[in-house]
Amino acid sequence: MLVENTRLVQIGRAVTPYTQQKGTPIQPWRGESVEAHIEIYPEFRDGLNDLERFDRIWVLSLLHESTGFEMRVIPYRDTLLRGLFATRSPRRPNPIGMSLVTVDSVDIEKGIIRVQGIDLLNNTPIIDIKPYVPQFESIPDSASGWLENGNDTRVADDRFDKTD
Ligand SMILES: C[S@@+](CC[C@H](N)C(=O)[O-])C[C@H]1O[C@@H](n2cnc3c(N)ncnc32)[C@H](O)[C@@H]1O
Repeated sequence: MLVENTRLVQIGRAVTPYTQQKGTPIQPWRGESVEAHIEIYPEFRDGLNDLERFDRIWVLSLLHESTGFEMRVIPYRDTLLRGLFATRSPRRPNPIGMSLVTVDSVDIEKGIIRVQGIDLLNNTPIIDIKPYVPQFESIPDSASGWLENGNDTRVADDRFDKTD
């Protein structure tokens, strides 16, 4: 069933050094030393006001090079099949990415958010930016399922890099 009245617009794009999935950090904190920025398009730049006082932001994106999906996948950090929705695999029915990144600077006029640590390919469409609020979102003693004994992988391999 289609969700009716879906209204999604691309508000910007990621500018990163990554051109292929293989070798891209599997999560933002794995790519902290890499220079990257989010470019916000002119009509949305006014919304960047007051963002610079947040240390971190959620970047919601459309993982546009993701193709197809399966309901069981072997995640980057594991060797066993897991339910898709128990993973952060980029191959999903709706390939939406959520990346928690550190804000270095915000230039409202130019629409540039300089960030540290990003796990997105160059030109990934950005669909939203939200502040990270530790009072709401940091719950460190939560169970993290299979990740508690998963392998410590830093970058993506070609596991999900499919063109089917
Ligand atoms: C494991 S996913 C996690 C993404 C996000 N942090 C999340 O949890 O939703 C990160 C991987 O997605 C892949 N990726 C990044 N940008 C992409 C894009 N635009 N299209 C398809 N795959 C992408 C890269 O291989 C990267 O290592």
